[in-house]
Amino acid sequence: MTVRWGIAGPGAMAVGFANDLALVDDAVLAAVGSRSIERARAFADRYGVPAAHGSYEDLAADPTIDVVYVATPQSSHERDTLLFIEAGKHVLCEKPFALNATQGRRMVEAARARGVFLMEAMWSRFLPPYRKLVELLGDQAIGEVRLVEADFGFVMPRDPEHRHWDPWRGGGGLLDLGVYPAQLASLVLGPPSTVAAAGYVGPTGVDEQVAAVLGHPEGQLAIVKAAIATNLTCTARIAGTLGTIELPALMHCPGSLTVARPGQRDVFETPWAGGGWHFQVLEVHQRLAAGELESPTMPHAETLSIMETLDTIREQIGLQFPGA
Ligand SMILES: NC(=O)c1ccc[n+]([C@@H]2O[C@H](COP(=O)([O-])OP(=O)(O)OC[C@H]3O[C@@H](n4cnc5c(N)ncnc54)[C@H](OP(=O)(O)O)[C@@H]3O)[C@@H](O)[C@H]2O)c1
Repeated sequence: MTVRWGIAGPGAMAVGFANDLALVDDAVLAAVGSRSIERARAFADRYGVPAAHGSYEDLAADPTIDVVYVATPQSSHERDTLLFIEAGKHVLCEKPFALNATQGRRMVEAARARGVFLMEAMWSRFLPPYRKLVELLGDQAIGEVRLVEADFGFVMPRDPEHRHWDPWRGGGGLLDLGVYPAQLASLVLGPPSTVAAAGYVGPTGVDEQVAAVLGHPEGQLAIVKAAIATNLTCTARIAGTLGTIELPALMHCPGSLTVARPGQRDVFETPWAGGGWHFQVLEVHQRLAAGELESPTMPHAETLSIMETLDTIREQIGLQFPGA
C-alpha cells in the first residue's frame, strides 16, 4: 500500500523527515505546504516533491495526500492539526503534541470524530534502543524499577528570533527538550501521582532550565531536567532492585543501552540507518493498513498524560504561553 505524505512547515525538522521518508519503500512525499509559495517551491525542488502549496489550507485541500506530517512550531500544532483533520487527512504531529493538554484533547477528539489516524511524532518510542529497553524491562533485567533519571539540554545561542527563546512559539527547554525525559519516565513508570518542579523563566519569558521530581504511589521516582541555557548530560539511567539500564547521550535516540549489574556490564548496540525518523513512519503505515486510528506504542492517552505532567510543571514554575 503506497502512502502519500504531505509536509506542513518546511523548516529544520522537515528536512530530516524528508530525508528519512526516502528510506520507506511505500512512502511517497507528494506535497509540501508553507505559508510562502517561494519556501514551498524551494523545498519541493530540493526533494523532488510534485506539489508545492503556498498555504496550509491548500495543502489540506490537496486530494492526492493521505497523511500530513505537521512540522510547525508547537504553538501552531493544534491549529494546523485541526485543519488537516477537518480535511480528512491522517496526521503525524511533531512533539510536543501541543502547548497544553487542553489543546491536545481537542486534537484527539477531532481525529476520533473525523475517523482519521493521529499520533504525536514521539520518534524515540519506535527506535531500536527504545524497543530493546521495553524488552529488557519486560524481562525484569534490572528487577523492579525504582528510579528514573533523565536530562536533556544544551546551551543554545541567545537568538531572540529563534523559536527556542520565543514564548509565542512555545519556546523554552521544558516543551521542546523536556518532553523526552518526561516520555521516558512515563514509558517506564507510567503517569506520576505527584510533581515537584523548580525552574528559571528568563527575560524572554521561556524556561531556561527546569527540574522536576515525579512521584509514584509505590515510592518510585523520576527526576527529569531540561535546559536551553545549560549543558546537561543528555543521558538517562533507570535504576532497579537488581541493576541499572543506562542510556548514553543523546537519551532520546541513543546508539546503545548498557545493563549494569554487580560485577557485570552488558552493552547492547542498537544502530540504525538514517536519522531515525522513518521508524515512526513505518508505524503510521502499519496502522493505516490495519485501519487503526492510533498507535498502541504512542497512544492518545499516553500523549495526553505526558502533556498533563508538563502542564503541572509549567504551572509550578510559572511558565505561561501567550494565547494558550
Ligand atoms: N523529532 C525531532 O527530532 C525534532 C527535532 C527538532 C524539532 N522538532 C519539532 O518540530 C517542530 C518544528 O521545529 P523546527 O526546528 O523544524 O522549526 P523551524 O525550523 O522553525 O520550522 C518550523 C516551520 O514551521 C512553519 N511555521 C508555521 N507557523 C510558524 C510560525 N508562527 N513561526 C515560525 N514558523 C512557522 C515555518 O514554515 P513556513 O513559514 O514556510 O510555513 C517553519 O519553516 C517543533 O514542534 C519541534 O519541537 C522535532
